[in-house]
Amino acid sequence: MDFITAQNLSFRYDTEYSQLKNDGQRMVLDDVSLNIKKGEFVAIVGHNGSGKSTLAKQFNAMLIPTSGKLFVDGIDTSDESRCYDIRRKVGLVLQNPDNQLVASIVEEDVAFGPENLGIEPSLIRERVDEALKAVDMYDFRTFAPHKLSGGQKQRVAIAGVIAMQPDCIVLDEPTAMLDPSGRNEVIKTIKRLNKESGITVVLITHFMEEAVNADKVFVMDGGKILCSGTPYEVFSQVELLKKRRLDVPVATQLCYKLRACGVDIKSLPLTNEECIALLSEVLK
Ligand SMILES: Nc1ncnc2c1ncn2[C@@H]1O[C@H](COP(=O)(O)OP(=O)(O)OP(=O)(O)O)[C@@H](O)[C@H]1O
Ligand SMILES: [Mg+2]
Repeated sequence: MDFITAQNLSFRYDTEYSQLKNDGQRMVLDDVSLNIKKGEFVAIVGHNGSGKSTLAKQFNAMLIPTSGKLFVDGIDTSDESRCYDIRRKVGLVLQNPDNQLVASIVEEDVAFGPENLGIEPSLIRERVDEALKAVDMYDFRTFAPHKLSGGQKQRVAIAGVIAMQPDCIVLDEPTAMLDPSGRNEVIKTIKRLNKESGITVVLITHFMEEAVNADKVFVMDGGKILCSGTPYEVFSQVELLKKRRLDVPVATQLCYKLRACGVDIKSLPLTNEECIALLSEVLK
């Protein structure tokens, strides 16, 4: 079943900023159609300015299509009276955890969302504990957020969204400010929430190695969807992506080049592990 459906969605900012830049007429999202199924893990990749964050904000009705339609669990996001319902269904996690953590103690921070939703206080405790356990941060519940590492802070920010029990979380470059180990922690957490709790995940990322974890990848280019499919279907189109100066995973790139040099590589790998297995066969 589709959870999010975009039908010929176009959007342009009509702000002083865009007038100033003299691009008020430019469509930032241009005729985007896509479906995201319930329980699916979707990655969105693309250059700076290709419209990824603008699309993410459409998913929880922070922005409304200029033309075309967007449905979240069957609800038209342009129906203002349903905005609250949509925000409960879709939670947004942003790039910088410092901008998302508001309280001085971890568990208070995670309680903030459910409190705002008017959840009964006796249930809040339960939700906060569950959310902190889900991101593996329960032992840090009494810590001050500023004492945590970047990856830990981002996991607390994710717990704050999970505590509102959304059906879907949209993460806009949640690992961009983290070191490799922080990035790993966050990606592992996202994967677990998707697989074990069945939460629909939309991950916006610049890291192709993160996108290979998804069930489906959408590549954005100039406000349009350039291509989409399984990670394998998308990243095997190396020529198309290179032409648009987009990356593919390092393992894919390496084997693509080896194949161009005449090495007998039939299918391109996505991960380092696949690459090692493939090369050790070829080099036998
Ligand atoms: N509030 C705004 N008002 C006017 N124009 C905006 C606004 N926010 C973004 N834009 C413009 O919309 C276009 C798409 O921006 P968006 O932030 O959605 O891209 P992005 O793919 O998320 O980029 P990045 O990878 O840098 O985060 C850009 O040209 C940007 O300048
Ligand atoms: Mg962005």
